[in-house]
Amino acid sequence: MKTLHPVAGALALATTLLFWLSTVSSELFGGPEAIRFVKLAIPWGLLLLVPALAFTGFSGSRLGGRWKHPVVTAKRRRMPVIALNGLLVLVPCAFVLRHLAIYGALGTTFYAVQALELCAGALNISLIGLNFRDGLRLRRKGRAAETLTPEGCGLHRDQRSSQRLRRP
Ligand code: HEM
Repeated sequence: MKTLHPVAGALALATTLLFWLSTVSSELFGGPEAIRFVKLAIPWGLLLLVPALAFTGFSGSRLGGRWKHPVVTAKRRRMPVIALNGLLVLVPCAFVLRHLAIYGALGTTFYAVQALELCAGALNISLIGLNFRDGLRLRRKGRAAETLTPEGCGLHRDQRSSQRLRRP
């Protein structure tokens, strides 16, 4: 669990970033064929992204189950936003865009949905990125639980003694 959690998290971050960057570059530098290719490929990529994200959330909540540390609380709070944004916005957008790209309908509706997808994608990249960064911090803090620095976990010096990492 401890080994697979960061691997799945890195995979989710890399896939989301790849979708976002390939969309932007096909729009900026490619023609209709490149856009069509990217829009048809993304739903296949979801077969990797959705399980990776689900496993990251599941393993994260197992690992962080009884931690009361504010960094873990922040990670826990971000996860439902990531999941809902993914399932309710990004996945439907990917299928609508695929459909429109297949029929060559790259008009106003396509670009409106595309703009929504890019905004929702940017939000998920930021939140998954923050969870990744906080995960690396937790690893470091976990190793040195008794020497927490205030900047590392967002606590002030006088809060440190009462908010030490509490592992199960
Ligand atoms: C997209 C979401 C997430 C990403 C990308 C992510 C990423 C990471 C990474 C890279 C690590 C470092 C592990 C290592 O190198 O040893 C980590 C550790 C950790 N994560 Fe996550 N994580 C995510 C979600 C969550 C959630 C929802 C929780 C639950 C609250 C969580 C709890 C933890 C805990 C407790 C650790 C420390 C494990 C330990 O060292 O014992 N993570 N995470």
